[in-house]
Amino acid sequence: DAEDTLKARPPVVTIMGHVDHGKTSLLDALRGTDVVRGEAGGITQHIGAYQVTLKDKSKITFLDTPGHEAFTQMRARGADVTDIVVLVVAADDGLMPQTIEAINHTKAAGVPMIVAINKIDKDGANPQKVRERLLEHEVIVEEMSGDVQDVEVSALKKTGLDELIEKIQLQAELLDLKANPDRAAEGTVIEGKLDKGRGPVATILVNRGTLKIGDIFVVGAESGKVRALVDDKGRQIKEAGPAMPVEVLGLSGVPLAGDPLSVVENEARAREVAEYRKGV
Ligand code: GTP
Ligand code: NA
Ligand code: MG
Repeated sequence: DAEDTLKARPPVVTIMGHVDHGKTSLLDALRGTDVVRGEAGGITQHIGAYQVTLKDKSKITFLDTPGHEAFTQMRARGADVTDIVVLVVAADDGLMPQTIEAINHTKAAGVPMIVAINKIDKDGANPQKVRERLLEHEVIVEEMSGDVQDVEVSALKKTGLDELIEKIQLQAELLDLKANPDRAAEGTVIEGKLDKGRGPVATILVNRGTLKIGDIFVVGAESGKVRALVDDKGRQIKEAGPAMPVEVLGLSGVPLAGDPLSVVENEARAREVAEYRKGV
């Protein structure tokens, strides 16, 4: 797209970290929700895609991933949707195997990282030890004269949240993220599923353009026409712009995470592209 058609868009932030270090709790605290309580065994099974609107009306899109499979699967399929990684490390547990995996995935993706040292309220919390262990993995926080931002938080006590948001905004400013909202939409499948009542449903992150009701699209080897768009609060909406996660109804089948979505001119074209892709 031409430079003059580009407008600022929200950053897409993926939350990563070891199991039970508080990824979903942190997002709950930021969103004022209680997703963790609704999870079977308190374990995140699905990718959550949420958008938080800040006091200044700017937005941040968050992806909450169960393990790192979703992140690596999407990257393997050529979809780099993440602008910033927030690495959540529990201050009592410290660095664990999945923390180190997350560091490696983030480095491989070349995505800037912010470290949220969580559970700072707990008796055994030792944030300094976390920083030292991070150093061993060449994640050097500012205090140790590196350039990785870190922040002490408690998802439980809701402390450090404003500082975390500030650091995300600062990092996003440096990245100067832009997209053209006034064009046919392109997006990426975050998750696809077959819903008993609603049929095939895909959570799409819009990368550029604006996705609208009635748009005809190809997504992976499937095609469709947007029948309904549902936002992260379960509300029916009419359109979704850049960096917005949205559930799309009206698909011919269930696409895979990382599949690209493109709006095309007509249904014949959509079927043609989908058939071609099915054959590959
Ligand atoms: P998975 O999705 O299963 O990988 O876990 P998660 O990283 O999303 O962690 P989750 O939010 O499910 O939190 C795990 C447990 O830690 C829950 O019992 C939370 O209540 C608790 N917890 C999360 N944040 C804090 C915190 O800041 N302080 C304390 N004391 N407990 C916390
Ligand atoms: Na959990
Ligand atoms: Mg979780």
